[in-house]
Amino acid sequence: MDVKAHVRRVEGITRWLGNKLGKLRPELAVIMGSGLSGCVPPLEDSVSISYADIPGFPQSTVQGHAGTLLAGKTKEGLGVAMMQGRFHYYEGHAIGDLAIPVRALYGLGVKKLIVTAAVGSVKRSVKPGDLVVLNDHINFMCRNPLRGIYDSRFGKMFTDMTEPYDPVFRRETLKLCKKLGIRATEGVYLAETGPSYETAAEIRAFAMLGADVVGMSTVPEVLVARQLGMRVLGLCWVTNLATGISSARLSHQEVVAQGKLVAVKFQKLLQAVLSLPQVRN
Ligand code: HPA
Repeated sequence: MDVKAHVRRVEGITRWLGNKLGKLRPELAVIMGSGLSGCVPPLEDSVSISYADIPGFPQSTVQGHAGTLLAGKTKEGLGVAMMQGRFHYYEGHAIGDLAIPVRALYGLGVKKLIVTAAVGSVKRSVKPGDLVVLNDHINFMCRNPLRGIYDSRFGKMFTDMTEPYDPVFRRETLKLCKKLGIRATEGVYLAETGPSYETAAEIRAFAMLGADVVGMSTVPEVLVARQLGMRVLGLCWVTNLATGISSARLSHQEVVAQGKLVAVKFQKLLQAVLSLPQVRN
């Protein structure tokens, strides 16, 4: 791993985006998961940039992932960058490359990150359409994006992971869900590499390990964000009961379609979260 090349790439993207965004300086970034890219809350003075136009930016290859960076301001004046489409290890990206967008956005001034993802539920009581606010995770990908690319600009090598998901963000989001009538619970995300879904035996094992939901993303970005000292909120929508919990067979089309069903609810929630004083300030 060439650390210098990685740092140059990150700094090049930050510079390029900084020029493109002019005076706009995002303080918070949102990474949109499968089928959720359209759930953008209203933003003023927005600028939309295709990933393909950003020199050095990884490129997204998954159907249902837009591949656009949308930046703008909320009505309260919070600068926000929305990644419509994320990068997955299963696409073939090097694990370290998953760090690039988060580090580049940090260079622009982003100090808070909302990660969103479609997930399968390991518990029958947490159903498709429910929201899970992450309170912890299990990195069953067994790969770490921080490995081999240590540079003190990105934080400490040995990153503390006591509280990966910000307790105030979690508490306030759960309160909002109650207000908005959204069924929500806290839970532990287990990340595996994909792209195959899990077997029924794996899901039974993950349940015993303490997982509530399972997915193929999120954890790499959270590790990078926590190394940078960002405050993180993880919002997951259950698109399906995990393998063996339900007798239905899983398909990506179904996951994307379920994401579309929750789109309106999700957009409302995201808008409300961005308006929270605890998130803005
Ligand atoms: N497993 C893994 N990833 C997922 C699932 C699942 O059941 N649903 C949505 N993303």
